[in-house]
Amino acid sequence: MISKYSNQTEQINEEEIKEAAQKIKEGEIVLFPTETVYGLGANAMNAEAVKKIFEAKGRASDNPLIVHVSNLIMLKQIVENIGEIEQKLIQTFWPGPLTIIFPRKSEQIIPNITTAGLDTVGVRMPSNLIAQKLIEYAGVPIAAPSANVSGKPSGTKIEDILQEFDGKVAYILDGGFVDIGVESTVIQVKKNTIHLLRPGKITKEQLEQIAKVEVDSHVLGKVEKTEVVASPGMKYRHYAPNTKCMMIYSKEPQKMIDKINEIIRKKQDENQTVLVLGRKQHLNKYIANKKWNMGETLDEVAKNIFTLLRQVDKENVDLVIIEGVGQQKLGLAITNRLIRACEYNYIVIE
Ligand code: TXA
Ligand code: MG
Repeated sequence: MISKYSNQTEQINEEEIKEAAQKIKEGEIVLFPTETVYGLGANAMNAEAVKKIFEAKGRASDNPLIVHVSNLIMLKQIVENIGEIEQKLIQTFWPGPLTIIFPRKSEQIIPNITTAGLDTVGVRMPSNLIAQKLIEYAGVPIAAPSANVSGKPSGTKIEDILQEFDGKVAYILDGGFVDIGVESTVIQVKKNTIHLLRPGKITKEQLEQIAKVEVDSHVLGKVEKTEVVASPGMKYRHYAPNTKCMMIYSKEPQKMIDKINEIIRKKQDENQTVLVLGRKQHLNKYIANKKWNMGETLDEVAKNIFTLLRQVDKENVDLVIIEGVGQQKLGLAITNRLIRACEYNYIVIE
C-alpha cells in the first residue's frame, strides 16, 4: 500500500498513517518521511521486527539504529538518564534533526539488535508531522535507519527508493521531497563536551551555544575498516556512485572554477567526458558539456545532493567533478557526505 501526500498538515490522511502504524504494531517495516531523509521503520522494542530492517537494507549488524520518539515519556522509557547538557539540547533542538546518544536503560526494553549491542542508544524526535503521528499512533518508539540499500545515498523522495524497497515493506507513506536532505546531526555528550559524530542541519556553530563541541576525527577523516569508531556507520562505504567522482574546493570561488576547468580540459584532451555538479551561480563558467545545478544556497545543496548522486550513473560519463562547499555551518554536513561520495578523492586549494 502506498499513500501519497505532501507535508502540509491539512493534506495529511490520518487513516493512512493509522494503517501504517498498525503495521508497525504487527512487527512489520514501513517507509516513512522525516524532515531529514526517509526512514525504514520498525518497532524498536521488537527484535524480530528490527531484524527485518537489517535484512531489507543489507546492513551490517554492528551498525546501530536511531530510535525515534514522539514525546519525552517515550524517551524516559528507553534511556537510563538525561544529563544537564542533553536536557538543554532537547529543549533547544527537539523536535528536529538532532540525534543524541544516551546510556541505554535495559536490554529488556531496547533489544541488542537495535543498538548493535552497544550500551548506548541514539534517539531523536523528528519534527516531520507524518513521522510524529506515525510514532504516536504506533505507541512505540520506532527504530529507523535512512531508507536506502546500504552504501547508497539516503532516500530523499519516494521515486528514488521505490525500486530498492518495493515488495520488501508493509506500507509506504509518501510525504513528498523531504525538507533538509541530509541525515540528522549525531552527538554524544562526554565530560561536559558535545562530541559531534555526524554533522547535519543542526550545526557545530549552533551546538556551541550550548556547550563546548569537539568534532570527531572521522567526520572529515578517512576511516579504516578495522577501527573501532564512536559512530559505527562512519566506517562503511557510503553515498558513492559507481562513476568516479572528485570534489574540488577553494575558499576563493575563482580558484576552484579554474582548477575544475583545468581538469575538464585535460579529460577532454583524453577524449573523456565530464559531468560537473556546481552551484547555480558558477555553472555558466564551466567548459564541461554536462553541468548540473546543485542549488544556490547551502540549504538547497543539502536538499538536492542525494537525489543528484543517485542519478549520475545514468549519464555514462568518465568523471564527475563536484564543487566543494567548505565547512561552515551546513557546509560541514555536505562536505562529510561529499568526501565519502568521492571515496576521499578530493582537492582543497588554499
Ligand atoms: O536523519 C536521520 O538520522 C535518519 C532519519 C531516518 O531519522 N536516520 C539515519 O539513520 O540516518 P542511519 O541508520 O542511516 O544512521 C545512523 C547513524 C549511524 O552512523 C550509526 O552508526 C549512528 O547513527 N548511531 C546510531 N546509534 C548509535 C549509538 N548508540 N552510538 C553511536 N552511533 C550511533
Ligand atoms: Mg544511513
